[in-house]
Amino acid sequence: MSSQQRRRLIALSIVLVALTASLGLILRAQSGVQPAVNAAFTRYQNLHEGKNADYIPALAKVDPNLFGIAVVTADGRAFTAGDIRTEVSIQSISKVFTMARVIQDQGPESIEKRIGVDATGMRFNSIVSVEFSKKILGGPEMNPLVNPGAITATSMVAGNTADEVWSKIIGTYNDFAGRQLSVLQDVYKSESDSNQRNQAIGMLMYAYEYIKSNPQQAVDLYTRQCSVGVNAKDLAVMAATLAFGGRNPVTGKQAINVEYVPNVLAVMATAGLYDDSGKWLYHTGLPAKSGVGGGIIAISPGKFGIAVVSPPLDDAGNSVRAQRAIRDINTTLGGNPYAVKNRTPTATNNNQ
Ligand code: DON
Repeated sequence: MSSQQRRRLIALSIVLVALTASLGLILRAQSGVQPAVNAAFTRYQNLHEGKNADYIPALAKVDPNLFGIAVVTADGRAFTAGDIRTEVSIQSISKVFTMARVIQDQGPESIEKRIGVDATGMRFNSIVSVEFSKKILGGPEMNPLVNPGAITATSMVAGNTADEVWSKIIGTYNDFAGRQLSVLQDVYKSESDSNQRNQAIGMLMYAYEYIKSNPQQAVDLYTRQCSVGVNAKDLAVMAATLAFGGRNPVTGKQAINVEYVPNVLAVMATAGLYDDSGKWLYHTGLPAKSGVGGGIIAISPGKFGIAVVSPPLDDAGNSVRAQRAIRDINTTLGGNPYAVKNRTPTATNNNQ
């Protein structure tokens, strides 16, 4: 064997050993995921607390027994339990991905300056929060995850026609989900017929110049984005894309630049579960987002994306079973990013 062949053989062996070691690490890290998912499913399968949203009539008709859990890890594997195929409307979870699109196109300051990135402490469709921000706080102290901020974010997606804007919005959602999503027409019609409050919010945001033009179009596109159909697995892939630096772990496509992901996660952490966002963060440490369709997504950065679909909601508008299941699975998998177990002294605390 020539010395060149020997060098090649050594290099190849090193690569093989490294690959086997990292595969071993991944497999070991993942070995507990499916049992954690199964345990949460079994534990909450017969929990029937909460009630479907009914202010959008189509949501009241969704099967309240629907219950699906999905966790997606770095290699794009999905660990699932229950019904992960039936689609529900994405509702407010859509707000995360429209915000991501605006940040991607116009930078993080665009959202911060026009809408704000602060929790309002009020209901998701509060009009008082708009008045309070404008008249008392004197600045844009809202966020893109409550309706006034979300409708404004939708109005910020650039395009010459409504169709052009829509194809950017749905294109972004498709990149995050890794498949072509579509609007659930019955939900879209039902919400369009009953969204007078959002129309009022759109007009108010226009009157105060948060929305620069065509508030009716912004409200219509917002209603359409909320009606996009997703299942638990789609939502988990979308969450995992945010967990792994904006790169969809199933398709490998970069859905948002890696440097913008922390901005998106920060708003989810402070305002993702509305009035209960603080309580949620206190118990899980996870940036998350709920929707009145019954879905919740949560992100453990660098570890996993998780989603649960179960339509009955609590008083704050968050799925009861989704909150419980995610909390349990997160605890079992050690997903809380604030709970650091490694106490090895580092260069910085050696001197203390
Ligand atoms: O605008 C609305 O009222 C709904 N399309 C979305 C609200 C929502 O999902 C709030 N979620 N917790």
